[in-house]
Amino acid sequence: MKIEPAGTVRGDIAVPGDKSISHRALLLAAIADGESEIDGFGASEDTLSTAAALRALGADVSVEGERVRVGGVGLRGLREPAEPLDCGNAGTLMRLLPGMLAGHEGRFELTGDESLSSRPMERVAEPLRAMGAHVETTDGHAPLVVEGGALAPVRWELPVASAQVKSCVLLAGLYAGDGPTTAVEPFPSRDHTERLLEVAGVRLRRKPREAAVWPTERLRPLSLEIPGDFSSAAPFVLAATLLAGSEVRLHGVGTNPTRTGFLAVLERMGARVAVFNRRVAGGEPVADLEVHSAELTATEVREEEVPALLDELPLFALAAAMAHGDSVVRGAAELRVKESDRLETVKDALRPLGVRIETRHDGLRVRGVPSRPKGGGVVEVAGDHRIAMLGAIAGLVSREGVELRGAESAAVSFPDFFAMLDSLALR
Ligand code: S3P
Repeated sequence: MKIEPAGTVRGDIAVPGDKSISHRALLLAAIADGESEIDGFGASEDTLSTAAALRALGADVSVEGERVRVGGVGLRGLREPAEPLDCGNAGTLMRLLPGMLAGHEGRFELTGDESLSSRPMERVAEPLRAMGAHVETTDGHAPLVVEGGALAPVRWELPVASAQVKSCVLLAGLYAGDGPTTAVEPFPSRDHTERLLEVAGVRLRRKPREAAVWPTERLRPLSLEIPGDFSSAAPFVLAATLLAGSEVRLHGVGTNPTRTGFLAVLERMGARVAVFNRRVAGGEPVADLEVHSAELTATEVREEEVPALLDELPLFALAAAMAHGDSVVRGAAELRVKESDRLETVKDALRPLGVRIETRHDGLRVRGVPSRPKGGGVVEVAGDHRIAMLGAIAGLVSREGVELRGAESAAVSFPDFFAMLDSLALR
């Protein structure tokens, strides 16, 4: 797909519902007592993998656009499927679902696509084993087999911040003995699971780097509206910031502070983003954003900041490429085990545009040049939806555009991404 350069981006959009919350809402609704109604569901390849897996486990899931109804089977009501559960590309599904399955009798096999099958899975297998489940990985990866049963509570210290691992431990904690199960992190990661568990009536105790959950017999069905995905809003925030004369409003975006680190970093670089109409939906903060273009100054992203802009670091690299001065990202080795090795794929995506970027074992260094990069090259998406969106924005802000190879990967999280981009771009 050829991405042509744009002069400005202007207009109003509402991005689809948050992917992390959409996965979690389906998962919890499936084990709730009764029928849940979810609005603002972010239908994408990833979240539809979760819907399909839950159907295979016996839950009644109907998706009609943004509206989803789930007939929950109760906390222990999932049943062994005839076939392995195909998680597709969805890391959140493959890492959260085993927490629930560990509390069920039966044998459950989870498989994934090539990218998901290369990602580390011992990080969820270990805590579940410590709680008493039988979990096998394939040399640390998928396919994964979970044989559940009676679980005991644990206090699990995560070596790296990960909302997926934390969530897996907390979900297993719903089934574990009679005391609290605790997940402790080096830095706080996104807390959507904790918030949704509270909505479902579960007893929790929360501290900044720690969450504990008490076992329960039933979850309340959910009735909620999912906010727009900040990670899907971020490419448009960046495009409006980088293209002079731009003005974009994004309506109903999730502004959970564990997710909006990209805004905080962009603002410190000089971006002009107004956050207004603040409200709460489904236990989550939501707001409208208005973005005007601005000149940026280089910055350093430190390890403790990384979890709150984890999925936006590819976009940060492009912001850094057009800032005054050299920028650095440290403490982001986790990017190497995402849908692709995102330190390398970000470098490979930006170099063909003329950006001077280097990788380190745990980060990036980017030479900022405060003008539009030349472009004209080929960006390979490497099967990674975040790289597809990065490549698109990079082409848009470049002087010559780019040839984006593998653009269809954007549908993993955001099927309408290119249509929305076209609706804003003035060429
Ligand atoms: C996610 C957590 C993060 C993030 C991923 C979604 C989640 O992964 O990168 O896109 O929904 O919990 P880690 O838990 O591996 O950090």
